[in-house]
Amino acid sequence: MTMDRTRLEETARAMVAEGKGILAADESNATMTKRLEAVGIESTPESRRGFRGLMFTTEGAADHISGVIMYDETFRQTSDDGTPFPELLASVGILPGIKVDTGAKPLAGFPGETVTEGLDGLRGRLSEYRELGARFAKWRAVIGIGEDRPTRGCIEANAHALARYAALCQEAGIVPIVEPEVLMEGQHAIDRSEEVTAAALRAVFERLAEQRVLLEGIVLKPNMLLAGYDCPEQASVEEVAERTLACFRRVVPAAVPGLAFLSGGQSDERAAAHLNAMNAIGGVPWELTFSYGRALVAAPLKVWAADTVEIADAQDAFLHRARCNAAARMGRYVESMEHQLVA
Ligand code: 13P
Repeated sequence: MTMDRTRLEETARAMVAEGKGILAADESNATMTKRLEAVGIESTPESRRGFRGLMFTTEGAADHISGVIMYDETFRQTSDDGTPFPELLASVGILPGIKVDTGAKPLAGFPGETVTEGLDGLRGRLSEYRELGARFAKWRAVIGIGEDRPTRGCIEANAHALARYAALCQEAGIVPIVEPEVLMEGQHAIDRSEEVTAAALRAVFERLAEQRVLLEGIVLKPNMLLAGYDCPEQASVEEVAERTLACFRRVVPAAVPGLAFLSGGQSDERAAAHLNAMNAIGGVPWELTFSYGRALVAAPLKVWAADTVEIADAQDAFLHRARCNAAARMGRYVESMEHQLVA
């Protein structure tokens, strides 16, 4: 099969379109169970469907959200009126996406490190997802920072898997989100975050080139450069923004249409402020947007947990976060927006 370059490029550009970003609602059932139980809700296919469905049916979401990443279970579920979620999203102009990795598993020979799995049978799964309406996919590699970590073995194994995944996606006409996530947990200073992120990205772009991946037809999902959460010296919003852009300028080719950042456990406000500061600086060859999970989902989840029947307040909370981050994506976010909950 030869890939349709034009379609891939158009989809990738639509994913990072002006004023919009991506909702990562692709928590695995295990992760979603943790999130639901933390707010006192039993995790069942129905409760997971209910919560995802309220976000997907929020009126006005499509003004700020270009695409939604789903987990396999959600991708096959339907809204209350029986419309499959991918079809429902597409009908309001939101691109349906699917997480296709099968998780980060212990990397043999490298205690404490992981390699993300899911390549076996991927071609077949992608073709089914495409039939069901998937326009893009996600694969998350996880790189932790510690005293002797990450190792070259871990960085290389993950980069190779990401490149194989990306090539298979493009063959299927699906845009791959390439996510080499350097975790923000740890005691490391921001310098170390920069060093590790740059090394991981260099390896990823080398492997992508080797596997003949069309860079115009991917979206990169990177971490921002932060000091580890347990580092006594935290960087300011401006420093995070400047250091992140400076690092990426050195290692991310200009052919990539956009960077859609993960939030990685930052507070909702910080995730918005950092994205805003990067867009305010600008002057980079790629779009800079969000592909947030927690920084979009945590607030509505908390509201919904208090009342799972009347969903309007939870939808307002979701729309509010989407609006704040969409503003940040254009460099127009101000902290006072946080107090203007949408009516
Ligand atoms: P967070 O924004 O919660 O980090 O999640 C984004 C994501 O999809 C990580 O793979």
